[in-house]
Amino acid sequence: MVSVTYIEANGASHVVAVPDGENLMRGALDNGIDGIVGECGGGLACATCHCYVDDAWADRLPMPEPIEGEMLECASAPLKATSRLSCQIVVGPALDGLVVHLPETQF
Ligand code: FES
Repeated sequence: MVSVTYIEANGASHVVAVPDGENLMRGALDNGIDGIVGECGGGLACATCHCYVDDAWADRLPMPEPIEGEMLECASAPLKATSRLSCQIVVGPALDGLVVHLPETQF
């Protein structure tokens, strides 16, 4: 298990355990965290799993595939340099303690 902190746009913070090999979108849904929708189930077809990786972690994640960047353009909330699709971030020991921020809206 990996500890992940999700911080909602309203400041509410949730520290949850996400299983190794699971993605951040599923980790949010399985823990009832508002702010991640994951409408397409992780199929890179919706961008409703948009999140902002905390600045302290931004350089520690693998680079996104080009298709993730293309799909991010469909996100409703403004994009930042740290924007990612949470369904494409798979956690493991190297990401223990990861912090992500959630946008105000996914639609
Ligand atoms: S859940 Fe649809 S792109 Fe991530």
